[in-house]
Amino acid sequence: MGSLHQPVLVDEVVAQLAPREGAGSIIVDGTVGGGGHTLALAHRIGAGGRLIGLDRDPAMLRLAESAIQASRPPAQVTLVQAAYREMRRVLDELRIDRVHGVLLDLGLSSDQLAWEDRGFSFSTDGPLDMRFDPDGSGPTAADLVNRLREDELAQLFFDFGEERFSRRIARRIVEGRQSESIRTTAQLAGLVRRSVPGRARHGSIDPATRVFQALRIAVNDELGQLDAVLRAIPDMLVPGGRAAVISFHSLEDRRVKWAFKTNPNLTVLTKKPVTATAHEVAVNPRARGAKLRVVERCPNLS
Ligand SMILES: C[S@@+](CC[C@H](N)C(=O)[O-])C[C@H]1O[C@@H](n2cnc3c(N)ncnc32)[C@H](O)[C@@H]1O
Repeated sequence: MGSLHQPVLVDEVVAQLAPREGAGSIIVDGTVGGGGHTLALAHRIGAGGRLIGLDRDPAMLRLAESAIQASRPPAQVTLVQAAYREMRRVLDELRIDRVHGVLLDLGLSSDQLAWEDRGFSFSTDGPLDMRFDPDGSGPTAADLVNRLREDELAQLFFDFGEERFSRRIARRIVEGRQSESIRTTAQLAGLVRRSVPGRARHGSIDPATRVFQALRIAVNDELGQLDAVLRAIPDMLVPGGRAAVISFHSLEDRRVKWAFKTNPNLTVLTKKPVTATAHEVAVNPRARGAKLRVVERCPNLS
C-alpha cells in the first residue's frame, strides 16, 4: 500500500532549492517519509544526479522504497535509516563531502498518525509509544508520563506544547497514575480532556492536541535534533548550495529562522517564510501551518 501522506509545498521546495540538473548533483532529504519530496527532487535532478534520503522510521522507509520502485526516477536514490542529526556521519560513510541541497520537512507523516500501534494519535486507541524509531532504545511517551514528577510534566507541556493548563493536566496525570499506570493513548487523552475547564473541552481543538505534541517532541528530542542539524548544514553545502526547512509550529520555526539569520556564511533567500496557497490548503489542510525557509551558502566561500 502507498503512503497516505500528501506532501506540502512540493513545487515551492523544488523551485527554491533550484537543484542543478544532471551529473554530480547531490541532494539530501533528511525526512524522507513517504517519499513525496524525495521523488519530486529525484526527478528534477535527473540522470547522473543522486538523492540521499534519511528517516528514523524503518516503516516510512519501506513506504518510500515502494514509491521509488513504482516511479523509477532517473536519479540514483539511496535510502538510509538514520536521524537527521547523523547526516554528516551518513555522508562520510557514503564518501560524500559536500552536497548541493538539503531538505527537512519536520514533524510526522499522516501514515505514522494513522498507525494505531505507534501511539501518535489521540483519536484512536493504541500503546503510548510515539518513538519515530520504534526499535530504538529511548523512552516511550508512556515512560515519560508514568515516571516524570508533576512539575517536570507541567514544564514539558508548557515548553513543548505551549499548553496553558499544563499544571492542571500534570496534576490529573499524577493522580490518575496512582491507581493504574497510563499505557494507552485513550487513557491519556481521557485524563487530559477531564482536566481542562469545560470551555476548553468544547473548543474546536481537542484538549489532548498540545499534550500529545509536547510528548512527541520530548520522546524524539525533536528540538535537540533540529538544533544539531541546523549547526551542521552550512558546512555540508557546496558554495551556492541551498537548504530548505519546512516547519509546522513556532517552536521549530523560531529556531530555523534564528539559525539561518545568524550564520555569516548563509544568505537567507526567504525574507518571509513561503506558505501554502489557499488552493493547497483547501485540498490538503495539513499545509495550513507550513512555513518554508530557504538559505544559500555564500557562493564565494570555499
Ligand atoms: C512530515 S514527514 C515527511 C514527509 C515527506 N517529506 C513526504 O513527502 O512524504 C516527517 C518524517 O520525518 C521523520 N523524522 C522525524 N524526525 C526525524 C529525525 N530526527 N531524523 C530523521 N527522520 C525524522 C519522520 O519519521 C517522518 O517520516
